This record gives sequence, C-alpha cells and structure tokens, in this order.
Amino acid sequence: MILVTGGTGLVGSHLLYFLLKENKQVRAIHRKSSDLQAVKKVFGYYVNEAEAEILFNKIEWQEANITEIPALTDAFKGITHVYHAAAYISFDPKHYKKLKKANVEGTANIVNLCLAHAVKKLCYVSSVATLGSSLNGASITEETHWNPEEKNNVYAITKYGAEMEVWRGTQEGLDTVIFKPGVILGEGYWNSGSGVIIKTASKGIPFYTDGEMGVVDVQDVVKVMIKGMNSEEKNTSYILISENIKYKTLLTKIATKLNIKPPKKRIPKWVLIIFSKVDWLASVLFGTRRKLLKATVNSLYTVSNYSSLKIEQELNFTFTPISETLDRVVGHYSIES
Ligand SMILES: NC(=O)c1ccc[n+]([C@@H]2O[C@H](COP(=O)([O-])OP(=O)(O)OC[C@H]3O[C@@H](n4cnc5c(N)ncnc54)[C@H](OP(=O)(O)O)[C@@H]3O)[C@@H](O)[C@H]2O)c1
Repeated sequence: MILVTGGTGLVGSHLLYFLLKENKQVRAIHRKSSDLQAVKKVFGYYVNEAEAEILFNKIEWQEANITEIPALTDAFKGITHVYHAAAYISFDPKHYKKLKKANVEGTANIVNLCLAHAVKKLCYVSSVATLGSSLNGASITEETHWNPEEKNNVYAITKYGAEMEVWRGTQEGLDTVIFKPGVILGEGYWNSGSGVIIKTASKGIPFYTDGEMGVVDVQDVVKVMIKGMNSEEKNTSYILISENIKYKTLLTKIATKLNIKPPKKRIPKWVLIIFSKVDWLASVLFGTRRKLLKATVNSLYTVSNYSSLKIEQELNFTFTPISETLDRVVGHYSIES
C-alpha cells in the first residue's frame, strides 16, 4: 500500500488523482484542519463530479501530523511506498521555528518510520531552493550544491535540512528518489503558491521586475514522481523545470490569456526594497501581516537558469510547454473567478 503526505495540497491532490487512476491502493494523511473538499475539487478538473466522488472515496484517509509520531506511526501500517509531499511553505523569517519543525523534524520522522517499517522506496518532494547559485550565468544542475555562505531564505534552509534527512536515510538503507521542482503551476489552490501569481496577475499588474524563474506543470511533477518511484533509479535527485521564464513574459502570457493589459513598466529593485522596509515597520508597529518580504523582493530580481537535462535523459521525460500549461490552468481560473 502507498502512503501520501501532503495529499490535501497542490502536489499531493494531483498526485492522489494519478495514483487512483492507476488503481493503486492509497492511504493519505490529513490534519484535523485540512480541507478534504479541495482534493475532490482537484479530481473534478479531470473527471465529472460522480467519478470524482468515487475516486475520492477510494482513499483511506488517516488523521496524522508529520510532527506527531504516535498517529504517524499508525499511518505506516502495511505501507510499502511513501510519497512525502507535506511541507510548510513560508518565506517569513518569523516562521523559522514552525518551518524547521514541519520540514526538518517532520521529514526526519518520515525517514525514520520508512526505515522502521522497511518501506521499499521513499519519493520526496524537495525544491530548487536547496541548490546553490551558478557563476556567470551558467546553468544550475543537480551538481550545483547548496552554499551556506549565500543569503538563503528560511524556507530554503529548512528544505535543505529536510533533504539532508532523506540523504541520511539512504545511508541507513532506505531507497529514495528526490525531486526538486521550481515554481509549480497548477489549478485548484488560488490563494497559495503560483495560484497567487495568477490571481494577482488577473487584477492587471502594470509593473514587472527583471527576474526570471524556473516553472513546471503540476501534472508533470506528479507523473514524474510516479515514474521515479517505479523506476530502478534510486538515491538520486532530479531538477524539475519545464522552462526558465522572465516574470515579464509569464505575466504577459497570463494577461493575454485573460484578455487584460500586460505589464508595461519596469520597476527597479530599490523601489520594492523601500516598500518591503515600510511593510516591515508597519508589521512591527501595528502588528500587520507582512505583504512584501525581502526574500520575495530578492527572488523577483533573481535570474536563475536551471537545467532539467538529467531527468530528460535518465527517466526519458518530456515536459509540457508552459504555454500549454497556462492555457489549461488560467482557463480553469477564468471559469472559477
Ligand atoms: N508549490 C510550489 O511551487 C513548490 C515548488 C517547489 C517545491 N515545492 C514542494 O512541493 C511540496 C508540495 O507543495 P505544495 O505546493 O503542494 O504545498 P501546499 O499546497 O502548501 O500543501 C502542503 C501540504 O502539506 C501538508 N502539511 C503541512 N504541514 C503538515 C504537517 N505538519 N503534518 C501533515 N501535513 C502537513 C498540508 O496539509 P494541510 O492541508 O492540513 O495544510 C498540505 O497538504 C512541498 O514539499 C513543497 O516544499 C512546492
């Protein structure tokens, strides 16, 4: 039987659909506060309501938090394969302790339970955030290692810590495959991750920044996770990027699909730095929620050129072109908004 963590999130919900479509027996953990209806909604992008309900009812849901060992241990009974997609995502330095607990400690628990239950293989979703930067615009590959001397954000630090736990597991005899996606484009979660980019872009942003990001389709991420789990490849990691795309190009593509004006004016970094400082001051003085973190500003101006050559060659995988992904995802957003 397969265990999925993070099944109520973007990656996990799409993954559950593809596993169930293959008639796999799946147990998924959720928290008391998790929105299970969101998973059914995601299934509804693929099949009609009745079929979505049938598939959803095939999942063996079990309440467990990856940071609480007793319930998590119960969830491992009879499990042979584990997809670990649960993580806490935040770039706010204020959330460091929470990030460390969920991402590093939670992943250590998953690894330990995989070892204790002689799980055959663990598929872990890491991030390109765990890679270092390249010099002189060279491509970033799986060999571009984490550099602790760089200004790494709190999310990256804890995803790197989590990955170290998975590598530790391999040393103790656990077979693993690690995937490092860039920004994942997918439908269903418009208030987090790339959903926020689409939602914000739909309001018509007149400005753009100079940065570039690596993006990938959620369907590609989950298809390749299943392929990696079923392959002979083990104790290795793969970057998942369909395209490296400039923010301006991405926002323009989204605007075009939504039939709204594309961004026209370049906004220099110093302007956003000032906004970010004012935002920080307001949070200190009035307790308001941070809206523009320094880490976000930095990422909006970073140009990173990731290479997905390894997965294309070793797992013979071809990524969906981002225009095709945006047609589908922005199409769903238009219908729902
Ligand atoms: N989205 C991206 O662009 C992106 C890019 C690169 C890497 N990743 C990685 O991909 C993975 C999946 O990301 P996502 O976009 O699907 O995230 P998401 O939509 O925010 O979902 C996160 C999932 O983790 C679960 N979770 C969080 N803390 C938990 C805990 N303590 N115990 C049990 N479950 C917990 C959440 O459960 P609740 O429903 O209860 O909150 C949810 O199911 C993560 O490892 C993330 O770091 C994501």
